[in-house]
Amino acid sequence: MAHGGPRRFNGAPMTSTEAGPHVAVQGSRRSSAVLVTGAGGEVGHGLIRGLHDRGRRDIVAIDLRELDPEIRSLCSQTFVGDICDAMLLGRLLAMYEVREVFHLAALLSTRSEFTPETAHDVNVGGTIGLLRLAAEQARSHGETVKFVFPSSIAAYGMPDLGTKAANPRVREDEFLSPATMYGCNKLYCEHLGRYYDERYRWLAKDRMADLVDFRCVRYPGLISADTVPSGGTSDYAPEMIHAAAKGESYACFVRADTRIPFMTMPDAIEATLQLAEADPGALTRKVYNLTSFSPSAGEIAELVRQHFPAAETTFEPDEQRQAIVDSWPADVDDSAARADFGFTPQHDLRAAFEDYLVPRIRSLYQQG
Ligand code: SER
Repeated sequence: MAHGGPRRFNGAPMTSTEAGPHVAVQGSRRSSAVLVTGAGGEVGHGLIRGLHDRGRRDIVAIDLRELDPEIRSLCSQTFVGDICDAMLLGRLLAMYEVREVFHLAALLSTRSEFTPETAHDVNVGGTIGLLRLAAEQARSHGETVKFVFPSSIAAYGMPDLGTKAANPRVREDEFLSPATMYGCNKLYCEHLGRYYDERYRWLAKDRMADLVDFRCVRYPGLISADTVPSGGTSDYAPEMIHAAAKGESYACFVRADTRIPFMTMPDAIEATLQLAEADPGALTRKVYNLTSFSPSAGEIAELVRQHFPAAETTFEPDEQRQAIVDSWPADVDDSAARADFGFTPQHDLRAAFEDYLVPRIRSLYQQG
């Protein structure tokens, strides 16, 4: 990677045995690793391919379920397990020198509203466990561990539709009163990440600074041609498109005039990797908005109809899920991401459909 390589933290006592990517530890050697949690999810698939395409051969992946063989083949090691399992994280600590963490595992917004305490355990408990692992890793191998974390538009909370209409494009630090458990979890984890980066064990006599380099993107709704999400509330857009390609009718669970920001999965992956690679000196914030286009659900349905004329989309709003989407902004200001790490999405709404979604989704379902 050209930028953002390993950085030593200030004043950290170094062990005498350090030597490049492998370090002798009590007679054994630990392999250097980039750790990806939630590796089997929608973002995980793309991110692991992206890391592999960039030449990474030290990917260690964790997911609750066995990964697809194709994704597994891109990893140097995979673990089936729960990120809240302290024993599993302890084993990782013993086996690897983790240099970078992409912590993707989470329960999304709709699913979290059925089991909020479990969502908190996974989304917050899992994140603090991994932040602690990152800090311990940095103490043990002597280099700052980069921690890349996806947050979400769910971190926002627009109080009502009038406020949403009057504030169509929100900045990172506005309207941060999330309505959902998932949004509360994500917003709090943004703060946790900043704390671990800037103040971890602030008053401890043996405190070491710069253990964790926390970098965070707030994703808008994501649309992938390859997979359909599960348990999210922005899922109406990808569900509508995939249903049409499969020749199935679709009842959209929000009103046609509902508007939130979206981007394609390849643009989200590229942006995440760009942020991870960015020169730390270029970054002016810990948390960055990202977006590409903000169509209404009705405009998405119209595009779907143009590309799949047989598509049958109806609008049958679900009161609660509608309220969740209404609490998210219509658009976000991502000028900081554009200025600081060169974020430039390849797909506007037209290109998303014509160049990415429609051709790939057609071939996905034609292959059966
Ligand atoms: N896609 C997420 C969800 O719907 C929002 O970030 O939960």
